[in-house]
Amino acid sequence: MTSPFDFPARVDDRAVRDRTVAHLRAKGVRLPTFQELAEPAEAPRTIRSELKGVDPDAPHAANLYRVNWYNDLKRAGQLAAPAFVELPEAFTGVKARIVLALGATFPMIKAHKVMAAYACLAPRLVAGRFDPTRQRAIWPSTGNYCRGGVAISRILGCRGVAVLPAGMSQERFDWLSQWVTTPDEDIVRTPGTESNVKEIYDKCAELARDPENEIVNQFSEFGNYLVHWRCTGPALERIFETLRDMSPGLRLAGFVSASGSAGTLAAGDYLKAEHGARIAAVEAVECPTLLNNGYGEHNIQGIGDKHVPLIHNVTNTDLVIGISDKATDGLNAVFNTEEGRAYLMQRFGLQPEAARMLGYFGLSSIANLLAAIKMAKHSRLGSNDVILTIATDGAELYGSELKSYLKRRHNQGSMTRELAAKLVDQHLICANTRHVLDATERERDRIFNLGYFTWVEQQGIALVDFERRRSQDFWRSLHTLVPQWDEMITAFNRDSGMAAA
Ligand SMILES: Cc1ncc(COP(=O)(O)O)c(C=O)c1O
Repeated sequence: MTSPFDFPARVDDRAVRDRTVAHLRAKGVRLPTFQELAEPAEAPRTIRSELKGVDPDAPHAANLYRVNWYNDLKRAGQLAAPAFVELPEAFTGVKARIVLALGATFPMIKAHKVMAAYACLAPRLVAGRFDPTRQRAIWPSTGNYCRGGVAISRILGCRGVAVLPAGMSQERFDWLSQWVTTPDEDIVRTPGTESNVKEIYDKCAELARDPENEIVNQFSEFGNYLVHWRCTGPALERIFETLRDMSPGLRLAGFVSASGSAGTLAAGDYLKAEHGARIAAVEAVECPTLLNNGYGEHNIQGIGDKHVPLIHNVTNTDLVIGISDKATDGLNAVFNTEEGRAYLMQRFGLQPEAARMLGYFGLSSIANLLAAIKMAKHSRLGSNDVILTIATDGAELYGSELKSYLKRRHNQGSMTRELAAKLVDQHLICANTRHVLDATERERDRIFNLGYFTWVEQQGIALVDFERRRSQDFWRSLHTLVPQWDEMITAFNRDSGMAAA
């Protein structure tokens, strides 16, 4: 396997690239640059107008131009600033302004992980490192990244294989079985649930023995880091600027993100450099790896995997915040049942439309919301402070989890006003500053060092490469790859005849 530090920065295999050019020409695929993912208004006008007639959930080449933060809630048109939800003080219990950008506006998978998938594959494609006519793209994931990868694979006309734990939500598997070429072969279930990433790696190592399989590992692929640094960071900044235009004097105090691959956390590196925002990484208290070198099982699907991803810029992290899956499961049931929403409207004076917007929050989004509340309390933030975070996916992926949660934990299997009141008191009103860790230098070193066991001992990363990541100079040096990749993508589109598509 190629080292993740051997960046695709030039054409490595001319013959593979030539085949790929011909293949994508035949399929009518124009590849967006990172610049176009960040600024979709700069995409060619022909594609932008073609988009109007394209279903956002179809494996259509034009949908690559919806792989960005600027889709409207219907995911048909595009906005000047990303769609977001701001929750009122009555609801959060804190004066700081808590704002979530909506990953459910992304095409095909209704989660922003489709962007990470594209960003990990595109540089390899244009470098001639991946042959879509002969190879399979293998997408190791806990559920959304692999769906994103399969969607991108469909558009590119190559075989995409999802590798994910068997215990992930049924909705993910239902989606996958509609999208992969051969469900029996292209959905690989690994043992366990959310936090069993080691088992995913073992499966990938086995699959990698076949040269026709290309493992596109989000946990170690710097394209994942860079796309969030280049696109998610500035998209969130635009939300902040929109708020600040209306309320001058606002300060961007924090960026909160639950970490799965830690790709999204890279947006924090951008927001910290530009605005001084403090970066909070979120994980499940049931699997407190960053908090406490701990382990365990939990149900905040998409996050916290008993390891420290290679692309996590640990030494730039300011806080680590633990959230219980009891809170996310419980509030998911309140936010997404009629009785629960009715209770919230009555108790907090939420308008029906605001209550409906809670449907944009999946389990990890609720974790992010609660972590933002904890950060505001811990750091004693006030009304001029903004905390930005992400609703990675929406509640529709967790309907089956909601049902089984109510059955399992609350025998009657249905939501009542009393239960809603109890869950809201327990998990929202009582969100406190427990499980909030200030990432001092010592803590950062501890977390960073923990990664050694996965990456150097287990996955064979050279110690010198592992260590390079301790310095911020390393992370800043990565930035130069983005314009290089954009040049390579632009040249590729020119050669495929799609430049002015
Ligand atoms: C639902 C959900 N939330 C959060 C995350 C974490 O995002 P990241 O991998 O960028 O850290 C993921 C990642 O797959 C996810 O699927």
